[in-house]
Amino acid sequence: MSRDDDRTRWLLSAAIALGLWMAIGGCGDGNNHHGATPTPTVSPIPETFADPPEIDSVDGVLDTTMTVQPETIMVGEQEVTANVYYGLYTPPTWRLRSGDILRVKLENMIDMTTNLHTHGLNVSPMGDSDNIFLHINPTESFSYEIKLPDSHPPGTFYYHPHIYGTTEFQIGNGMSGGIIVDNDEYPPPSLRGVKQRTMLLKDIQMMQGQVPDPPMSSNGTTRSVNGLVNPTIVLHPGETELWRILNIGADIYYDVQLDGHVLQEISRDGNSRTRPIDRDHILIPTSARVDVVVSAGAPGLYLLNTLPIDMGPMGDYYPQVTLATVVVEGPPATPAPVPTKLPAPEDLRGKPIAKRRKFVFSENMMGDQFCINNMQYDPSRTDTTVQLGDIEEWTIQNCSGENHVFHIHQLDFQVIERDGVPQEYIGRQDTVNLPYTTTGDPTTTKVLLPFTDPVIVGRFVYHCHIGEHEDNGMMQNIEVVDEPVGDAGALAGLDPDEPTDCNDFPCPF
Ligand code: C2O
Ligand code: CU
Ligand code: CU
Repeated sequence: MSRDDDRTRWLLSAAIALGLWMAIGGCGDGNNHHGATPTPTVSPIPETFADPPEIDSVDGVLDTTMTVQPETIMVGEQEVTANVYYGLYTPPTWRLRSGDILRVKLENMIDMTTNLHTHGLNVSPMGDSDNIFLHINPTESFSYEIKLPDSHPPGTFYYHPHIYGTTEFQIGNGMSGGIIVDNDEYPPPSLRGVKQRTMLLKDIQMMQGQVPDPPMSSNGTTRSVNGLVNPTIVLHPGETELWRILNIGADIYYDVQLDGHVLQEISRDGNSRTRPIDRDHILIPTSARVDVVVSAGAPGLYLLNTLPIDMGPMGDYYPQVTLATVVVEGPPATPAPVPTKLPAPEDLRGKPIAKRRKFVFSENMMGDQFCINNMQYDPSRTDTTVQLGDIEEWTIQNCSGENHVFHIHQLDFQVIERDGVPQEYIGRQDTVNLPYTTTGDPTTTKVLLPFTDPVIVGRFVYHCHIGEHEDNGMMQNIEVVDEPVGDAGALAGLDPDEPTDCNDFPCPF
C-alpha cells in the first residue's frame, strides 16, 4: 500500500469527520447568529456501505447458474478487467438452511481450468459435491449438487476455485463469494431482529487495468469491503448489529479493530462459539470468517481498521488500512440482548484419540517453495488415510520465518494447545494461524479432529490457505475411509513425541 493511498484515506476520513461535525451543528448553523432557538440541522451522513447481493434457497433448494468470465469492474475508484463470478467483483451470497441442497451450474468462460470449493461446509467431497479433484475446462460447464446434512452447523462459509497452481491467481481476481447457513438455533433468537451485514474482505492487485499473472507479493494491493474502499456505515447509539466478516482474498491476513468498541465474537469459521468472546481486535487469517455482535457506542465517528500485521521475517508486512468508517448518529436505539450461552458443538477433550500425527510446515531458503513434512503436493499421492469414526490429534508445527494458516476441508477442529499451553475450549474452527518462528525451533499448534461424520467419507485436502504457499506445494491429500485402516494411516509417518529439528525440513525442490 503506497503513501498515496494513506493520504487518500486520511483525506477521506477528514472529509467525513468534517461532514459529521457540521451535521451535528459545529458551525454554519445560521440560527445561532440571530438568537433564534437553535434547531440542530441534522443532515444525516449517508451510508455508502452495501451488502453483497443474495440468492436464497427456496423450498430447501438453492439453484443457481454461475458464469465465470472476464469483466471490467470497479474496485474503489479504479477500473480493472478481472475474471469474476456473475460478472461481479462482489458476487451474490448464497443463503441456505441446514438440510438444504445447493445446486450450482458453473460455466467456465475464462482461459484456464477452474472448479468450485464450498469452503467450510461439512459435506461430501465426492462425485458432483464439494469435490476439488474435478476440473472444469474452458468453455465447459458442470453442475454441482451439494447436500447439506440436516445437522449441518450454521454460520458463515464461502465459495472459491481450487486448482493446484492457479488458485491464488483466480481468487486474486475476485473469484470468491459468501455462503450463509441458518437454522433454528443460529443466529441466536435474541439477535434475529437485528440488522445483519456481510463484509467480504478482498484485495486485488491492479497493473494497467489488469490483474498481474503471476501475482507479485511485492506489488501493492487494494483492500476493499464488498468491493468498496472505506465505505461509511451508519448506526444509532446503542444499536446492536450482527456482522459477518469474511477474509476471502488470496493471500493476506486481516486484524480487524473497531475504534472505541469491543467486538463480541459469536461464531468462527461457521462454528458457534461456546459463548460470546469479547475482542479488542480479531486476527482473521486468509479464509477465516468471524461473526461478531457490534453494540454502537456514543454518537461519533469510528474507524474500522485492519491493524498492521508482521507475517514474519520471511513473510510480508501488511500496513494498517481503514476498511470502513462507522458513524454513530441519530436517536438512540434499544440494544438487543446478546445470549451468554451459544450452541457450540461438544468439547472433544477427554474422548479416546485413535491416532496422533505430526505435520511440519516449512519452506526453502528462497521462500518460494513450500512443504508439509518436507514434501510438496502431489495430486496423485494420498498422504494421510483416516478411519471414519476416529478422533485424531494432530501436532502442527511451523519451522519457517513466516506465518502459515492451516485449513482442512469437510470438517472442523478444536485447538487444544499452543506451544505447550493448554487452550480453553471456546468452539471449533476450520482455519488456524501457525505463527512463524525466529529461533530455529518450530512453533507448535495441537488440534483434535473428529472424523466422525459419515458424510465426509472420501478424498480431500488440508493445506496452508495462503494462495502462494498452497499453489507451490504446501498441501496434502487425505482420505477418510469407512473400513479399518490399522497403521496404514501413518503414511505421513512423523511421530509427535519425537522432537523436531527444523534443519531436517529444508523443503528441497
Ligand atoms: Cu478455502 Cu482448500 O480451501
Ligand atoms: Cu476449504
Ligand atoms: Cu503458508
